Amino acid sequence: MGETVTITDDQSGRSVKVPIGPDGTIPSAALRELDPGLRVYDPAFVSTASCASSITYVDGDRGILRYRGYPIEQLAEQSSYLEVAYLLLHGELPDKGQFEAWRHEISIHTYVHENVKHFMQQFHYDAHPMGILVSTVAALSTFYPDAKRIFDRDVRAKQIVRLIAKMPTLAAFAHRFSVGMPFVYPDNSLDYTSNFLSMMWRVAEPRFEVDPVLARALDLLFILHADHEQNCSTTAMRIVASSHADPYSAAAAAAAALYGPLHGGANEAVIQMLERIGSVDRVPAFIDEVKRGESRLMGFGHRVYKNYDPRARIIKRTADEVFAVVGSNPLLDIALALEEVALSDDYFIERRLYPNVDFYSGMIYQAAGFPREMFTVLFAIPRTAGWLAHWVELLSDPSQRIARPRQQYVGPSERDYVGLEAR
Ligand code: SDX
Repeated sequence: MGETVTITDDQSGRSVKVPIGPDGTIPSAALRELDPGLRVYDPAFVSTASCASSITYVDGDRGILRYRGYPIEQLAEQSSYLEVAYLLLHGELPDKGQFEAWRHEISIHTYVHENVKHFMQQFHYDAHPMGILVSTVAALSTFYPDAKRIFDRDVRAKQIVRLIAKMPTLAAFAHRFSVGMPFVYPDNSLDYTSNFLSMMWRVAEPRFEVDPVLARALDLLFILHADHEQNCSTTAMRIVASSHADPYSAAAAAAAALYGPLHGGANEAVIQMLERIGSVDRVPAFIDEVKRGESRLMGFGHRVYKNYDPRARIIKRTADEVFAVVGSNPLLDIALALEEVALSDDYFIERRLYPNVDFYSGMIYQAAGFPREMFTVLFAIPRTAGWLAHWVELLSDPSQRIARPRQQYVGPSERDYVGLEAR
């Protein structure tokens, strides 16, 4: 890639020489310099950079993912979710004192107002936990009206701690409501992920006994799901935040975007797909369905990764560790057969479709006992740190303003109104 491109208006003969910025970006202002009426038409923003960000780096061709420069493989191996959340939000790994203060702050904000519990209990008995979570995150904005003071650093910091601390509580409460079990309050003597498991599964025992392998596996999955640059839900967070809405309303919009089956809902859709296939010998027929365009291979493909999603590789390894504890997931054989066929079939190779983060994660969640309706909730919990890191970055970026794209108008030209009698 050179250092400049020259854009010429063939009608007027005018040209502009445009500098090529990082990651091959060119400023759209150059077009306006050539002709104020020029616009770039880019549905779904396939080739549009919406911001400059220093949080996460993804190289889709080489399958690279780094949080603040640290390779995801090293963070998955050596860090914890809470430490990664600190890294995403502050830009640096915490020292011992900083981490202890951060851990303490989070641990004393895990409770929610009792009215949030009552609010949750008004949902229909079979309400989907993601529907409950999206609504309840939005409702938090009514409990913390001071959150509207988004340019006050201390106020921002307080909302960040509240949201990261309360997401596991809301998630576990949503599950307990869905299965008709009493809510279990946070046990702040446990670490972040173990506390979530306690709120999910504790019944009558005085203290929940955490399985260290499952807790570690879930914490690792939280690390892998913490951020992923300008994905759909993070873009939703940024767009809502750009109008200076409070962070709870923006996070609710982000969670709503994540709920879609093309995004965070894919982990639940993968399990449904594998159960529909039913057995390894029916994989070829399903692959034919996909190639005819009648089905989509959920958990495969990615807008950015045109290689194996590095997170999928780590998750696949983690699955083996979990299955050694809880027993294998019978759907695994079907998934492995699907992957083997897809990675050798021209249809998928030509389209550069590889397993993404959602292909194996659902199988771990299912084997660990989570109902499939909780899978996207398990994605939303950790992604909250990423959403909030982008929220802070957006508000601190002087080049950012309210998001307001233009359009290509293809509707009718001017016409006169015709009264009802004459129609
Ligand atoms: C996440 O953006 C992120 O970073 C997201 C995420 C994150 O961490 O935030 O990584 C998390 O959302 C992962 C993606 C989870 N979604 C799925 O697994 C759903 C299945 N995948 C697809 O729907 C699709 O691959 C997307 C949505 C992920 C990407 O869609 P794109 O980039 O718009 O690609 P496309 O739909 O334009 O597909 C290009 C071609 C098409 O074929 P043609 O029309 O050219 O013939 O590939 C085909 C598509 O039909 N294709 C698939 C396919 N994905 C794309 N065909 C079959 N199965 C698939 N899964």
